[in-house]
Order: sequence, then C-alpha cells, then structure tokens
Amino acid sequence: MIPVPYRSIINGGLKPGKSFTVRGVVSCNPHRIAFNFRHLLGIAFHYNPRFDENKVVCNSWDGQWGPEEYPAGMPFKAGQPFEIYIFCTDHSFNVCVNGVQVHSYKHRFCSLNGIDVFEVTGDVQINHVEA
Ligand code: GAL
Repeated sequence: MIPVPYRSIINGGLKPGKSFTVRGVVSCNPHRIAFNFRHLLGIAFHYNPRFDENKVVCNSWDGQWGPEEYPAGMPFKAGQPFEIYIFCTDHSFNVCVNGVQVHSYKHRFCSLNGIDVFEVTGDVQINHVEA
C-alpha cells in the first residue's frame, strides 16, 4: 500500500506522451479525492472527484482558482476499486477512468516542463502508481 498523500517528482518535467496510472480503492465514506499536477507556483491541473457533491471538478491554481470544468458523470464510487490513467498531449491532459475517457482538460499552464510534481490526496487507498 502506498501512503496518501502521495507525491512524486516528474523527472525532467512534463511533456507530451507522458502518462500516469493510479490503481486504488476509494475510501468507504469518502469526501473528496484530488489528483494534482503541480508547478513551482501552483497547480496546472487539479482533477477533483467530490463525493459530497457527486461530481468531478477540474481547475488550475495560479494564486487563485480559475474557472471550473465539470466532466459529465461521476466515475468513482465509495469503496470501489478504480484505475485512473492521465496522459499528457501537446494541447491537453486526457483522463480515463476504468478504461473510459472522461475528460480532456486543455492546458492553461503551457510551460509543460515546469510541471514537475504529481500528487494524489484525499479519501483513497493507493495500491499502484506508474508514471
Ligand atoms: C475550491 C476547493 C479547492 C478546489 C477548487 C477547484 O472550492 O476548496 O480545493 O477544489 O474549488 O475549483
């Protein structure tokens, strides 16, 4: 089992073609989970399943939160195992959950190589991370 919060350095920073897979299990009485891609001054991509609101919120932080994006559906369930796969292209972060593409988040922070930390926080157990 991998401790949460989980943080790893993205060697050489992010670039198109890099991908991240996390396998885990949602906690039994979950509030929120966050998958964050960080740079020195903020968060380039915050993917935030919210069980209290039964939706996923995506956003970026650069001293303040920007406009939220709401992918359709809520692919995470309390107590259930999941696999999330996030891959970076030259124009977006693409997110698949359990093999289904659930969102494409257009890059707002475009200095991709400055995005150097991948983080998972919140109400989740992690069994496997592949970056
Ligand atoms: C805020 C919340 C943050 C983050 C943000 C995204 O309301 O406190 O944790 O999820 O929304 O827009």
